[in-house]
Amino acid sequence: MRMRRLRRSQAMRALVRETTVAPGDLIYPLFLCPGEGVRRAVSSMPGVFNLSVDEAVREAEEAASLGIGGLLLFGLPESKDEQATGAYDENGIVQQGLRAMKKSAAAKKLVLMADTCLCEYTSHGHCGCVIETEDGWTVDNDPSLDLLARTAVSLARAGADVVAPSDMMDGRVAAIRAALDKHALQNTPILSYASKFASAFYGPFREAADSAPQFGDRKTYQMDGANLREAMREIDLDIEEGADMILMKPAMPYLDVILAARDRVDVPIGAYQVSGEYSMLQAAFEHGWLDRDRATLESLVSMRRAGADFIVTYFAKEAARLLS
Ligand code: PBG
Repeated sequence: MRMRRLRRSQAMRALVRETTVAPGDLIYPLFLCPGEGVRRAVSSMPGVFNLSVDEAVREAEEAASLGIGGLLLFGLPESKDEQATGAYDENGIVQQGLRAMKKSAAAKKLVLMADTCLCEYTSHGHCGCVIETEDGWTVDNDPSLDLLARTAVSLARAGADVVAPSDMMDGRVAAIRAALDKHALQNTPILSYASKFASAFYGPFREAADSAPQFGDRKTYQMDGANLREAMREIDLDIEEGADMILMKPAMPYLDVILAARDRVDVPIGAYQVSGEYSMLQAAFEHGWLDRDRATLESLVSMRRAGADFIVTYFAKEAARLLS
């Protein structure tokens, strides 16, 4: 046997290629901020910006023209408080962005996903409500569910095609499903960040979304990176609670988790190539240490090969250009 027979030409290699990535598989994250004409660079993520709603609509239209599948929207509110009011405010920043995008013929063709979490909106930067106990502070699970459910309803009403809870509170998928159904939003799907690890690779995002916890860390709600079986339990629970799709995150350091999820469940699976994965590659590109185009596509193919149906990536626009 000579394996090299099928590698002899570009055409032959294309014929036997097992995994592909298409622009429609990609979801492009955007960070919405107040103002007009704002395009503020995020220093730790070259090519990523905080965008005012008008600029974000333009970005969405460009993404649509490149054939990208959808957007994942995050918000930087005008002000933050303990109750994360900005997250479920009818006039919140992501709500405004969604309404504006639904008015654009091009932008509304995209699947508009709204990240559903409190950390960008709380003054303390945690993903749920913080309370004081005898042993110090803790993130209180059940009161957080009410706020998350309110947020999901508000985002869906404003035009989100998908709500994507990323907080990792227990029971949030069930709470969000019940609230959506109660408000006649039974057709809004939930993409649950089912398996989200407490990862150092979210570092640059916390600058982009201004959501770094002001004290402590997220280890009491996000998962320990060492645990594969626990990730499977999270996935099973979220699907039982009504998740329509699941998101796995981070992606490249956790490809084994994506593969295990693919073998276990039949719901659509997304992989999130998170900020740190992006910044790490960008840093190498800037030094000329890695070939930009090849390394970008290779990273995305690895996630599809592991079993992801779609990929949330800050490279979406660049990758879509390379693929067309
Ligand atoms: C909000 C949220 C985070 C990310 C997505 N949603 C930050 C975090 O959990 O700390 C990270 C995305 C990225 O790093 O690109 N909870």
